[in-house]
Amino acid sequence: MRSSTVTRTVLVAAVLLLVVAVRDGRCAQLCMDSSFPRTVNGSLSFCGYNGTACCNATDDAAVQRQFAAMNISGTPCGDIVKNILCARCNPYAGELFTVTTSPRTVPLLCSSTVVSSRLSTKPAATNYCAQVWDTCKDVRITGSPFQPPKGGAPAPRLTDVWQSVSDFCGALGGTGKTPCFDGEGAAFNSIRPALPLNGMCLERIGNGSYLNMAAHPDGSNRVFLSNQAGKVFLATVPAQGSGEKLHLDVANPFLDITDEVHFDNEFGLLGLAFHPDFATNGRFFVSYSCDKTQSASCAGRCACNSDIGCDPAKLGADNGAQPCQYQSVIAEYTANATSGTPATATAARPSEVRRIMTLGLPFTTHHGGQILFSPGDGYMYFMMGDGGNVGDPWNFAQNKKTLLGKIIRIDVNTMTTGNATSGWGNYGIPKDNPFSVDPRFAPEVFALGFKNPWRCSFDSGKPSDMYCADVGQAVYEEVDLVIKGGNYGWRVFEGTQPYTPLSSPGGNTSADSINAIGPVMGYTHNSVNNNVGSASITGGYVYRSMTDPCLNGRYLYADLYAKSMWAGIETPEDSGVYNVTSLTFSCSKNSPIPCDVAAGSALPSLGYIFSFGEDNAKDVYLLTSKGVYRVVDPAECSYACPIKSSAGAGSPPPGAAPSSTFRAHAPALATLLAGVLLALLSLMSV
Ligand SMILES: *[C@@H]1O[C@H](CO)[C@@H](O)[C@H](O)[C@H]1NC(C)=O
Ligand SMILES: *[C@@H]1O[C@H](CO)[C@@H](O)[C@H](O)[C@H]1NC(C)=O
Ligand SMILES: *[C@@H]1O[C@H](CO)[C@@H](O)[C@H](O)[C@H]1NC(C)=O
Ligand SMILES: *[C@@H]1O[C@H](CO)[C@@H](O)[C@H](O)[C@H]1NC(C)=O
Ligand SMILES: *[C@@H]1O[C@H](CO)[C@@H](O)[C@H](O)[C@H]1NC(C)=O
Ligand SMILES: *[C@@H]1O[C@H](CO)[C@@H](O)[C@H](O)[C@H]1NC(C)=O
Ligand SMILES: *[C@@H]1O[C@H](CO)[C@@H](O)[C@H](O)[C@H]1NC(C)=O
Ligand SMILES: *[C@@H]1O[C@H](CO)[C@@H](O)[C@H](O)[C@H]1NC(C)=O
Repeated sequence: MRSSTVTRTVLVAAVLLLVVAVRDGRCAQLCMDSSFPRTVNGSLSFCGYNGTACCNATDDAAVQRQFAAMNISGTPCGDIVKNILCARCNPYAGELFTVTTSPRTVPLLCSSTVVSSRLSTKPAATNYCAQVWDTCKDVRITGSPFQPPKGGAPAPRLTDVWQSVSDFCGALGGTGKTPCFDGEGAAFNSIRPALPLNGMCLERIGNGSYLNMAAHPDGSNRVFLSNQAGKVFLATVPAQGSGEKLHLDVANPFLDITDEVHFDNEFGLLGLAFHPDFATNGRFFVSYSCDKTQSASCAGRCACNSDIGCDPAKLGADNGAQPCQYQSVIAEYTANATSGTPATATAARPSEVRRIMTLGLPFTTHHGGQILFSPGDGYMYFMMGDGGNVGDPWNFAQNKKTLLGKIIRIDVNTMTTGNATSGWGNYGIPKDNPFSVDPRFAPEVFALGFKNPWRCSFDSGKPSDMYCADVGQAVYEEVDLVIKGGNYGWRVFEGTQPYTPLSSPGGNTSADSINAIGPVMGYTHNSVNNNVGSASITGGYVYRSMTDPCLNGRYLYADLYAKSMWAGIETPEDSGVYNVTSLTFSCSKNSPIPCDVAAGSALPSLGYIFSFGEDNAKDVYLLTSKGVYRVVDPAECSYACPIKSSAGAGSPPPGAAPSSTFRAHAPALATLLAGVLLALLSLMSV
């Protein structure tokens, strides 16, 4: 049967990953003085924190002096004490040091009763507190920070104050009910009540209709936006609360490949991803659909082929198209850095640098198309649907040999030229791909059993967590927490219910032959009241901004028809159980572009929600047929939240703003809009 418990693989133990993990928000992120963590200029020279931290250079130097005075540098205990002192720079310092009403001199030290969180690279149940005791108990520490919490004189040695490890950890160890310090990061294992959520407040900052937003990899307040027709734009995001619109020059796209792109219904420029080192190497990638009857470069192998027991001649005409007339392409382009570094480029070179992948599509629907680089492992992920027709007649999503119905993971840094191991183009196979050496699988496969993954994201607060919304067929729209090698069930299951195909020329897979992983969130078609008799999920992001502290830590998703949105939070942490709340929304009274009013509805008319976006400040956007909407301070919509928004606190987007200002004018997009609207109406459904 379909397992409801999601088995989690332990994290890739990468320090980089941990640093990213602890640096971003998890619930109310505050420093010891109740301020918000600040953006660090570079990294702290002593404590090493970069990104956001609760220390500036002055505080960091003070910690360094405090440590030097202890005269234990270079010893095992010294390393531990340094880490503990530096925890005050941790962006979770407020939680670590102020777990009771009075501030502490050391954070609660995770002890064996504590189950380590996914934030930590340590295995579960590491007794960090005992490790501190064992390493430091007999060491004389001048000005020891280990003070008895109930008062009493500080002493140079732990054994001067405490008799035993249980004594010590009874006083300074984490009990499992509060956040604790595990030597590397903050571990949250508590069942903490989520803040009350009253609604999501949006402002409309742009008119154009886009399918993708990618934050500029230089960390600045700029984003790239791409539309379905085939244009990529570079835009500057205005500061929260500034009342300004998106700065975007519609007349000068960053890249225009409309000539290459086949734009129709579910076809178009569907994915956009920037190499993690784009700021220095200028590499970026687009995923789009092409028509081989129109473009010479649109030539790849058909996904329906003899390798997988599929005969293209038996597919039949689909909307008049011949099998594999349309192909799904990933192509590499480069920034035009002729006059500077790639980070400063305002345009791309128009010609394609390299074809990464070309995959012939059996039908005209369900071919996902999103591309993403994982912040955890740096590889490219490509979301591919089952290739179409109702009920996946050829059972592609369960066929281990085809890329259809899969999340694909490839290496675009180590290229091999088209051969047996990289059958669809120029890319490498990550060594730890789950089926890289299993001859029954295409080595590109990372996870399987998807119908049409429409918008996946990595949680910037926990980069090992990848969420994918998968569009349903007739009953259920689902959100999956995707793990390496996971089988998400389609078309054996739709949601958690067994699915009966309309026709099955490609055979069936039996339910008990797979260990299908159930969705963690979702909604039934019955539950949405959108007057179109259909539903189609659009996956979003785990909200990690403090602009709306009450949304923080919640995964946001929506129905395409924009009448329903949800926010789900894992409760308790690491349980695999998500508490999903239906999310009401309204438009800020200060919206730079007024939202449309929907007749007879309390909700604004946002247009069709095609996608979500996240910028470098972790603010979240809705990309709809009517424009770009940003989540703002809930107070602007009179939604109550007990913690004040960081938006008013003048937290500027990190990094340098580009020196040039763009003037916003969008007439061309307005005319495009009608076409996009019609085209996407049938997007991803049936
Ligand atoms: C932040 O620290 C990590 C780990 O030390 C490092 O890999 C990364 O490059 C640093 N980032 C910056 C911007 O310094
Ligand atoms: C950041 O640090 C560099 C030197 O490390 C300095 O030149 C620059 O002015 C600093 N920027 C800010 C905003 O303080
Ligand atoms: C550093 O932060 C402290 C508060 O933590 C503040 O009092 C001090 O003014 C800051 N120093 C600088 C140079 O920004
Ligand atoms: C620091 O410790 C070393 C031995 O570990 C000792 O020789 C030295 O005198 C100490 N210095 C101070 C200032 O206590
Ligand atoms: C690339 O940049 C150079 C220098 O600014 C400019 O002359 C050239 O026209 C640019 N090419 C494109 C395709 O934008
Ligand atoms: C597949 O299963 C369906 C019922 O779920 C059945 O009607 C059909 O005959 C099966 N097809 C094959 C090829 O076994
Ligand atoms: C789920 O969330 C609702 C409202 O946000 C809350 O009332 C309820 O207690 C939560 N349930 C659990 C199990 O946390
Ligand atoms: C939005 O579109 C309207 C007309 O459709 C236009 O008048 C207005 O200037 C546009 N606003 C922006 C910011 O592009």
